Amino acid sequence: MQKSKVYIETYGCQMNLADSEVVMGILNSQGYAITQEVKDADVILLNTCSIRDNAEQRIYGRLGNLKALKDKKPQIVLGILGCMAERLRKDLIEEKKVVDLVVGPDEYRRLPEFIDAAFGGEKGIGVKLSRSETYDDILPFREDGLHAWISVMRGCDKFCTFCVVPFTRGRERSRSLESIVNEVKMLGARGFREVTLLGQNVNSYLDEQNDFADLLAAVAGVNKKMRVRFSTSHPQDLSNKLLYTIAKNENLCNHIHLPVQSGSNRILELMNRTYSIEHYLTLIDKARKIIPGVSFSTDIISGFPTETYEDHLATLDVMQKVKYDGAYMFKYSPREGTKAFKMEDDVTEETKSKRLQEIIALQQQISFDVNQRLLEKKEIILVEGASKKSDDFLSGRTDSNKVVIFPRQANIGEGDYIEVLIDRATSATLFGSVVSVIDKKELSEIRLAV
Ligand code: SAH
Ligand code: SF4
Ligand code: F3S
Repeated sequence: MQKSKVYIETYGCQMNLADSEVVMGILNSQGYAITQEVKDADVILLNTCSIRDNAEQRIYGRLGNLKALKDKKPQIVLGILGCMAERLRKDLIEEKKVVDLVVGPDEYRRLPEFIDAAFGGEKGIGVKLSRSETYDDILPFREDGLHAWISVMRGCDKFCTFCVVPFTRGRERSRSLESIVNEVKMLGARGFREVTLLGQNVNSYLDEQNDFADLLAAVAGVNKKMRVRFSTSHPQDLSNKLLYTIAKNENLCNHIHLPVQSGSNRILELMNRTYSIEHYLTLIDKARKIIPGVSFSTDIISGFPTETYEDHLATLDVMQKVKYDGAYMFKYSPREGTKAFKMEDDVTEETKSKRLQEIIALQQQISFDVNQRLLEKKEIILVEGASKKSDDFLSGRTDSNKVVIFPRQANIGEGDYIEVLIDRATSATLFGSVVSVIDKKELSEIRLAV
C-alpha cells in the first residue's frame, strides 16, 4: 500500500518549528511520508500560533484557502496543531467545519491515532497539557543542513499578564541533559554546524542538578566546530554562572536575546515581568563586562493598558541606552484568559500604531549605528550559501547572527567558517571581503551522515 503523505505548515515561534520536526518524526516512524507539496498531501497539518490576534487571523485566512482544496478532495484530513488548538479547542471543530482534528502541543504522540480515526470519518480532539511530556525520546525529522533547532524545555511558569503561552503550553519542564547532548552529537556527525537551544525561558532549564549553564557547557563541549545559540532568555534567570560560561566557551555565540517589553517600571509591574528597568540595565552592564563584545536583541510591546506618553518615552530611552542589535516590536493585543485581558485596552489603535512606528524608526537608526561600528573590523562567519539577491555573492552569519554578504570564491562553500573584513553596512546587512578560510567543512564530515 502506498504511504499516506503528510504536509505540515508552521506558524509562530521557533518552538513551533522544533515541534513540527517532532511531529514529522512521530509520523515518519509510523509509516507516513513527508511531503513539501500541499497538493500531494493526504494529511494537511497547520501548526498554529495564538500570541497575538493577527497571528490567529492569518490561520483563519489559510483555513479559508484550504477549504477550497478540501471541497475538491474531501478525503483530505485537515488538522490544527499548536497553540490555537489549545486555546480554541472544540470551537475550531464546531465553527470551522473543514477541521478534522485539533491536537495541542503535549498530545503529538497520539497524532497517528487521531489521523487514522479521521480517515474513518471521525473528528478528534486532544488538548490535554502535561507536566512531564518533553518528547525526549523522539528523534525529530530534519533534512540535512547546517543549522538545527533543539527544544530543551517546554512551557512557561512566568505568567506575564499579557501572554497566552502559559495557557497554551502549560507548565515548565526540561529534557534530560544526556538526550540533548546525544542529539547534538548526532547532528555533528551529520555535518550540522550550528544548533539553537530553544525554550520560552530557556535559561530556567533544570534537569536534576544541571542548570542551563551546565547544559550550555556540555553542548559546547560536544563539537568545537559547532556554534551554539539559545533563545529566549528571561532577565530573571540570567545568572553570573551563565554569563561566565558563555565567556569561557568560544563556540557559544556572544549574543543574548533578552526581551525587555517596556522601559517603564510601572508598566513592567503591571506586566508581571518581575524586574525593574534599573535591574535590567545592571544585568546588561554586567554581561558586557563579563563577555567582551556581547550583543543583545529584544522584544518590545507598545500600548499595554494604561501606557502613557511618558511610559513610551521610557521605552525609547532604554533602547538608546542598551543599543540593541535588533528588536521584535509589537502592538499590544489583548488575549482572552490572561490577566491583562481584564484591564481596559485603553490605548487607542491609532496611538499604539504611532508609538510602534517611533519604536521601529529608532531601532532602525540604532541598528544602522551599531553596524557602522563594525566597519574595518574582522568577523568570523559561518557560510550559509548563495546570497538571496545574486548567485555571484555568498552569505553567512556572524557570531551575533548578523548577515554578511561577500563575493563568491571557488574555494569557499556552505558550512565553511571564514574571516571577513567588513567594508559596508546598512541597518540590516553587512558587506565584506574574504580575509581567510578558518575551517573548511570537510566532505567526509557530510558523508558520516546517519
Ligand atoms: N518567552 C519569551 C517570549 C514569548 S512570546 C519571553 O518571555 O520573552 C514573544 C513575544 O511576543 C514576547 O516577548 C512579547 O514581546 C510578545 N507578546 C506576547 N504576548 C503579546 C501580546 N498579547 N500582545 C503583543 N505582544 C505580545
Ligand atoms: Fe509569555 Fe512571559 Fe512566559 Fe515569555 S515569560 S512566554 S512573555 S508568560
Ligand atoms: Fe505562538 Fe505558541 Fe510560540 S502562541 S509564539 S506558537 S508558544
